[in-house]
Amino acid sequence: MGRPIPSSSQNSLTVRDNRTGKSLEIAIEDNSIPATAFKALSAAPEKGERDENETNKGLRVSDRGFLNTAVMRSQITYIDGEAGVLRYRGYPIEELAVHSSHLETAYLLIYGSLPTSSQLEVWESEVMHHGVVHADAEQFFRSFRYDAHPMAILTSAFAYLGSYYSEANPSLQGQTLFTQGSPESLAVMDKQIYRLIGKATTLAAMAYRVRQGRSFVTPPTGFSYTGSFLYQMDHLGEENYKPNPVLEKALDVLFLLHADHELNASATTVLQTGSSLVDPYSAIAAGCASLYGPLHGGANEAVIRMLISIGSPANVPAFIEAVKKREKVLSGFGHRVYKTSDPRSFIVRKTADEVFKVTGKDELLETAMALHEAAMKDEYFIKRKLAPNVDFCSGLIYRAMGFPLDFFPVLFAVPRVVGWLAHWRQMMLQPGGVKIWRPRQIYVGASKREYVAVGERSPVEGLQKTPSQISHSGISKRTMIATFKGAKL
Ligand SMILES: CC(C)(COP(=O)(O)OP(=O)(O)OC[C@H]1O[C@@H](n2cnc3c(N)ncnc32)[C@H](O)[C@@H]1OP(=O)(O)O)[C@@H](O)C(=O)NCCC(=O)NCCS
Repeated sequence: MGRPIPSSSQNSLTVRDNRTGKSLEIAIEDNSIPATAFKALSAAPEKGERDENETNKGLRVSDRGFLNTAVMRSQITYIDGEAGVLRYRGYPIEELAVHSSHLETAYLLIYGSLPTSSQLEVWESEVMHHGVVHADAEQFFRSFRYDAHPMAILTSAFAYLGSYYSEANPSLQGQTLFTQGSPESLAVMDKQIYRLIGKATTLAAMAYRVRQGRSFVTPPTGFSYTGSFLYQMDHLGEENYKPNPVLEKALDVLFLLHADHELNASATTVLQTGSSLVDPYSAIAAGCASLYGPLHGGANEAVIRMLISIGSPANVPAFIEAVKKREKVLSGFGHRVYKTSDPRSFIVRKTADEVFKVTGKDELLETAMALHEAAMKDEYFIKRKLAPNVDFCSGLIYRAMGFPLDFFPVLFAVPRVVGWLAHWRQMMLQPGGVKIWRPRQIYVGASKREYVAVGERSPVEGLQKTPSQISHSGISKRTMIATFKGAKL
């Protein structure tokens, strides 16, 4: 169990269990210790006695919310949250945002180095040629209601997409399909990478158009990744339609900035799901579901809803006070990793200036700036090291570009497919193979109980201990009264 202790013992940790007096020396590697080492420690109750508090099962390492648990050795993205540093494969995000493109950066994130011009040409061509979806997909998109949240559509669409590719499904082709590292296995993996990145914009554009009651648009040729995306969303039959180049470029920069952010909630979900060796389409669908929440990719949408609710700069002080009283949350501020401004937020602000030159300023900008200024000099936020994250300004750009509020998380999910795939591929090919992600719990429930016959039980009362009284529609009321005598309505 654990790593061998180095002879010098300098690079190790000594732990003493004061319950038993037992000591343990654990090797430190890459500034980390294996959590499994602690399994060697237990309170050791009397022989043969089972302890329902689990104290005889080895000491657990408890970490609600993964605050200090590393689950991967990764070479993809580096973040220094105290210094506000973000690098993809060693390249500072600021340099990539100026010199690179989303697709070039995608290659870098997935394969580890920047492509040569011929590698880039093949890569871009493969991704762009894998944009078309089967014609049957139209029926799938049309099956959603006009007011379905586009993330519900996109999440389902990725899982649906996987049903077309039985050759990419380890359940059908054998569980080592993606873990062999052989040329054949890598080729199958790369094809799914082309498909998933190529079709992400197509699925997102279809999720957009179905709600507008518009026909779908086949991905065009000769366009950039974001140019094609804008075309698929906006083309209405004009001849030689081309999206505005400033918006196309701004979206590309935003895509690049959102491409990866190491083990955030959604990337972790993709890996957790992928660790069962499920197909990559299902893993990406799971990532979408995780990203959708307001604490993660839904924050850009939440920022705009918050700014609308504040209304004007004059109301900012009252809002800040409400945040400090914990009645409100300042969306777009704070981060699990950054304890200073998110480096992406500066690039987003510059991009916003470019976009506003074309679209005009968003009316919420002044409120956003007043909020930013007030929070940055308020003791509550300073003490907690709360600063703007990438979502604080990105929503303003998306709004100025005319996207509906609930589409914002889609604009985050589409580029993040790249990062999810980079992490998924790294895990599939990691030395030692894939280990299923199966955490442990600390059981604090009832000890062993005897089953009591239904007529002999005393009622248990209390909120959370019994099902709630829910409201019913008129038809449910009538059918329940008709079919169930004891119905509580
Ligand atoms: C991102 C986020 C989920 C990180 O959460 P976390 O790492 O668990 O941080 P914590 O919730 O422990 O925050 C530490 C403290 O700052 C406070 N805090 C964190 N974010 C805050 C925010 N946006 N507004 C007000 N207070 C905030 C917490 O209440 C906590 O205060 P306390 O120590 O007095 O209890 C959190 O900052 C947040 O909810 N931000 C708003 C949503 C958002 O913008 N998400 C996008 C992230 S890219």
